[in-house]
Amino acid sequence: MLNSKIVGTGHYVPDNVVKNKDLESVMETSDDWIVERTGIHERRHIVLGGEDTTSTMGTKAAKMALKNANLQPDDIDFIIFATLSPDYYFPGPGVLVQEQLGMKSEIGALDVRNQCSGFIYGLSVADQFIKTGMYTNVLVIGSEVHSGGLDMTTRGRGVSVIFGDGAGAVVMQAIDNNKTGVLSSHLHSEGKHAEELSLISPSTTDWVPNFIERNDPEDIRYYPYMNGNFVFKNAVVRFQQVIMEALNHNGYKPEEIDMLIPHQANLRISQFIQKQMNLPDSKIFNNIQKYGNTTAASIPIALSEAVAEGRIKEGDLLCLAAFGSGFTWAAALIRW
Ligand code: COA
Repeated sequence: MLNSKIVGTGHYVPDNVVKNKDLESVMETSDDWIVERTGIHERRHIVLGGEDTTSTMGTKAAKMALKNANLQPDDIDFIIFATLSPDYYFPGPGVLVQEQLGMKSEIGALDVRNQCSGFIYGLSVADQFIKTGMYTNVLVIGSEVHSGGLDMTTRGRGVSVIFGDGAGAVVMQAIDNNKTGVLSSHLHSEGKHAEELSLISPSTTDWVPNFIERNDPEDIRYYPYMNGNFVFKNAVVRFQQVIMEALNHNGYKPEEIDMLIPHQANLRISQFIQKQMNLPDSKIFNNIQKYGNTTAASIPIALSEAVAEGRIKEGDLLCLAAFGSGFTWAAALIRW
């Protein structure tokens, strides 16, 4: 039976490091507050107008994943790109990557809009295409540019200190073996909380001319909104539920996990899950301290770093889990 296996990982983050101390000069905040509540010490921001965009960072991460997979761009059969911060309103960045990688083949490119769960949703789509025999090599990318769209004033501090820019990618490949690779993926949503973590304008329900007509400087619906406490409370419950669902589906117990890579939402959330699952420090990977929350990019960046650091070995049971805007949440269990 065909299964899908991750055969290459890659990531890219912009050079520009923004430390908590740097934020103190533009808003009322402090290194202590940010570290205590989120675990974040610094994040990366692109230089506006520079060469880094959501698609170009995704392409750089993809090049590293292709190199590690020992493949050329034209070996890829399909592109999946997860982001909430595309270069353009439309088209999505999948087609831009197809162009930037210089692909001769006119393969399909799919854009996924599931925010923090976007990478696992994308991985799950790639897994299904591979398991049915439709594609052999699928590129899955998560990339975000948050920095240009954040309210970098005291008014926006509850959101803007958390998010950072970056990209991660994997190459998934068909293998004729169901003992290794993606064992299962589990996807969920609860749309009644859509606006608890959202950016609602400009959109087809509130176009730019409405803003111009209202001419109200306090109307900040073009900045992301997050009900932080509510998100936190839901996240800690949903992470555990979906990880247990993935384990139960495959007949495993929490102690059999060799590595858990949670979406890097907040270090306190990761630590809470680690405690709930009774996992030692060696079995969880966190890098939010360096990058902040990079939404769809956080899991593939962490996976790429964990692989590069030798933290994941052949045969390990790897669990990926995410929760975020939608609300959406998801998990994937992988035999490495
Ligand atoms: N620096 C300093 N003070 C800040 C601040 C900042 N960056 N952001 C908010 N504050 C202030 C608030 O204004 C508030 O002040 P007040 O008591 O005078 O009104 C106080 O700190 C507490 O704010 P609150 O929002 O209740 O803090 P919190 O303990 O809930 O922590 C988060 C805020 C955002 C860190 C926390 O809710 C969280 O992590 N939520 C989940 C976020 C997340 O994971 N999002 C991504 C999901 S994918």
